[in-house]
Amino acid sequence: MANKIDVVNDVANKSINQGDLRIANQCEPKSKPLKYSHCFARAFQPDKLRPPRAFTRPVLPHSKRKLVLEIGAGKGKHAIEYAKLNPDEVLIAIERTQGKYQAFAKEVHKIRQAGEKLENLTPIHADAIPYVTYAIPPNCLDSVYLLYPNPEPHNPNQRWLNMPFFEFLLSRVKDGGQIILVSNIAEYMQEAKHQAEAIWRLPCVLEPVPEDSQRTHFEIKYLARGEVCQQLTLSKPKGYRTRFDHIYLITS
Ligand SMILES: C[S@@+](CC[C@H](N)C(=O)[O-])C[C@H]1O[C@@H](n2cnc3c(N)ncnc32)[C@H](O)[C@@H]1O
Repeated sequence: MANKIDVVNDVANKSINQGDLRIANQCEPKSKPLKYSHCFARAFQPDKLRPPRAFTRPVLPHSKRKLVLEIGAGKGKHAIEYAKLNPDEVLIAIERTQGKYQAFAKEVHKIRQAGEKLENLTPIHADAIPYVTYAIPPNCLDSVYLLYPNPEPHNPNQRWLNMPFFEFLLSRVKDGGQIILVSNIAEYMQEAKHQAEAIWRLPCVLEPVPEDSQRTHFEIKYLARGEVCQQLTLSKPKGYRTRFDHIYLITS
C-alpha cells in the first residue's frame, strides 16, 4: 500500500538513538533509577520494518470497549470463543501460517453465514511483528494472548520475551494491562518468568492451567497427554516507560 514510512513524533524518535540505548543496556542496581522501566539491551527498530503486504489499519474501538490482541491464533478456537463470550470487547487475532489462517477465516465465515455477526473479532493473516508495529498505537491494548507459542528450541532469541519487539509490544499495552503467555514447556516458562522479573521488571504470576481447560487445539492435545501446562500473567505497572511510548508509524 505504501512505500513511504514516517515516524510520528520527533521527540520520541530521538529516544531510539544509540546514545539513549546505552543507558538502557545494562541492568543497573535497583537503587539507581533507570531511564526506562526495564533493562533489555537490544533496541527494536520499528522504522526498519515494512508494513505487511496489503496492510490496512484496523478500526480500533473508541469508547471504553476493551481492545485485546492474540498473537499466533492458529485455527482461531480461542479467538472465536473469546469474542463470543466477551461481546463488549474487541479482539484482533493474528496468525501467520496460511493454512491455519484459512481454517480460522473459514470458521468465522461459517459463523457469520449462520447469522451471528461476531463483529468484535478481526482475524488477520500476517506476521504479528510488522502488523503490530503499524496497526496498534501506543498505550491501547488491555490484554495480549500468546497461547502455546513455538518453543524455538534452537533459537532462544526468537522467544517472545527475548526479542527486542517485546519492548514495542509492551509500549502498546495500557498501564495495568496484561500479557498472558501459556506453554506446556516448563523450561520455556521458567525462562520467561526470569526475563519478566529480572529484565522487563514486570510483576507476574505463574500458575498451572486447569486440567479441564480447552482454550486451544494445542492446549487440548497437551492436557489430554497428561502434560502440565502453565500460564504466566504479566502486568504492566502504571508509569512503565519504554523507548517507544510516543512512537506510532504511519504509512502514506
Ligand atoms: C504452536 S502454534 C499454537 C496455535 C494456537 N495458539 C494453539 O494454541 O492452538 C503457534 C502459532 O503461532 C503462529 N505464529 C508464530 N509466530 C507468529 C508471528 N510472528 N505472527 C503470527 N503468528 C505467529 C504460528 O504460525 C503457529 O500457528
